[in-house]
Amino acid sequence: MGFLTNEGQTYSRGLEGVVAAISAVSAIDGQEGRLIYRGVDIEALAEYSTFEETAYFLLFGSLPNKSELEQFSAELRDAREIHPRVKEHLKVLPSDPHPMDVLKLVVSHLALYDPDKQRMDREAKIRKSIRTIAQFPTIIAHYNHARHGEEFIPPNPELSHAANFLYMLTGNVPDEENARIFDIALILHMDHGMNASTFATMVTASTLSDIHSAIVSGIGTLKGPLHGGANERVLKMLDEIGSVEKAEEFVLKSLQERKKIMGFGHRVYKSYDPRARILKQYAERLSEKYGDTKWIEMGKKIEEVMIREVGRKGIFPNVDFYSGIVYHFLGIPRDLFTPIFAMGRVVGWVTHVLEYLQANRIFRPRAIYNGPLDVEYIPIEKR
Ligand code: SDX
Repeated sequence: MGFLTNEGQTYSRGLEGVVAAISAVSAIDGQEGRLIYRGVDIEALAEYSTFEETAYFLLFGSLPNKSELEQFSAELRDAREIHPRVKEHLKVLPSDPHPMDVLKLVVSHLALYDPDKQRMDREAKIRKSIRTIAQFPTIIAHYNHARHGEEFIPPNPELSHAANFLYMLTGNVPDEENARIFDIALILHMDHGMNASTFATMVTASTLSDIHSAIVSGIGTLKGPLHGGANERVLKMLDEIGSVEKAEEFVLKSLQERKKIMGFGHRVYKSYDPRARILKQYAERLSEKYGDTKWIEMGKKIEEVMIREVGRKGIFPNVDFYSGIVYHFLGIPRDLFTPIFAMGRVVGWVTHVLEYLQANRIFRPRAIYNGPLDVEYIPIEKR
């Protein structure tokens, strides 16, 4: 057998083009810029579905009928509260950590109190998944209040998953349009094939570790600026540019210096990310609604220059480019943008884990060894 050294091995950096699973959850056509969840185009789900309905659809594989949807929505609603000990702990955390680090910590903490914590069977994994999906908004909203020394706003059982988050965060029941736009944003972020954070959750779950550990792997992975962390950096970039007039010069200079423009490019999409197209229209709508079109105008200018300069290389806006403008107008603080991404994507994480475990095999790739061979051990006295 010998060591795996260079001869004839195929190695793809970043696993580009490598198939790691067979899945019926979602699919991406990178050339055409299409995304489907369980066969349904993302545009149709964004137009007609809700967070609750699409979460059920991804988790269980079929669109729910009325009573199934009511029961699932009630299950989510009833699971929104987090353990009192965890709430107390939130109050003594420092106010400066990145909220993704707090999300990671709190999910681990909640695992210690989960009623199914000793259970590893599939039904228990599904219950833990639903509870965690329901609790992400509560964790994020409560921490935002805790770090400002404010009282927590308890979940409102009258409100949908999306509306309830905005309510817990701001203290105001959002108007219908804003709640609907946030609902759609969560749908758009729910799943996306073998992206880094989903793959990370699957790797953890494939060792038969627990679902909370798998989700914590996903959170830590999504935090990175090349993945979920880009949305927060887009607004930072817009602030840096300052005005529409300066956008073209900024982009050209960045490209010249081979700096990545946040919110552009994708490993799979070599065309316009369909999610970005949908989010752009809501970013425009909210910019007009709140009478502040500076960012959307800058965004459109950056898009125009980037597509003109590097569109032929397959570099187009991705999901992160316009989402930050939407979240800003919904009153969401910038450092919560990536936790919001996680609030949607946790559905995809647990769905892929539950699917993969049906025919589990531990992920264990190889590495080509290019180090020295037959090296003698020299005792320290002789070094
Ligand atoms: C998400 O995987 C998913 O599905 C992710 C996601 C999901 O839903 O889970 O879609 C969510 O993570 C979206 C991506 C958010 N990240 C960013 O916006 C950060 C900026 N984007 C890049 O870092 C990059 O495009 C990646 C990370 C998204 C993709 O990286 P790849 O596939 O490894 O591509 P690469 O870095 O090898 O770049 C290929 C070429 C390079 O040029 P050359 O060296 O070949 O001349 O394209 C250029 C890059 O310089 N390029 C960019 C660019 N992205 C790629 N140039 C300028 N700006 C960019 N944003």
